[in-house]
Amino acid sequence: MALAAVVLGVATAWGQSRGGDGPWCSRDAACQVDTATFVGWRVFETHCAGCHGQSGVGSRFAPELGSRMRGMTQREFSVALREGYRGLQGRMTPRADNRDVARYVDELWSYLRARASGDLGPGPLERFSEN
Ligand code: HEC
Repeated sequence: MALAAVVLGVATAWGQSRGGDGPWCSRDAACQVDTATFVGWRVFETHCAGCHGQSGVGSRFAPELGSRMRGMTQREFSVALREGYRGLQGRMTPRADNRDVARYVDELWSYLRARASGDLGPGPLERFSEN
């Protein structure tokens, strides 16, 4: 009985996030996300993870981004990428002078918001299949 309730609860939670825009995660596979979040993750791993760590978990060069992004607006985020950012740990030079970053600022935001909200853990992602 208790087990059935747990299984049902999980099925419901998955069903709900599958219906909306949010990530859809199961235990044994990569989380599935919408295209914007997927692209944001790819751009992040290419252009940001070198300092902020894979999935933004932080490194000795730059902070973990999840908790830092929670208090940040989308506008502040794009300003930080365009103009650079000075924080307690160090200084980030502008990132959006790289065209491959500038054109994907919204996608980066989508990915990092999902990480900050706890909807997404660290790790690789897959795109929702289109069917
Ligand atoms: C060369 C290393 C480096 C790269 C590459 C880099 N950053 Fe940073 N980033 C930093 C440092 C250093 C800070 C400031 C840390 C601090 O708070 O002292 C920072 C700060 C930030 C902040 C502000 C965090 C806060 O404290 O509110 C955001 C957001 C951010 N980076 C996002 C990104 C994104 C997105 C990319 C990829 C497009 C990126 N960074 C690439 C080094 C880097």
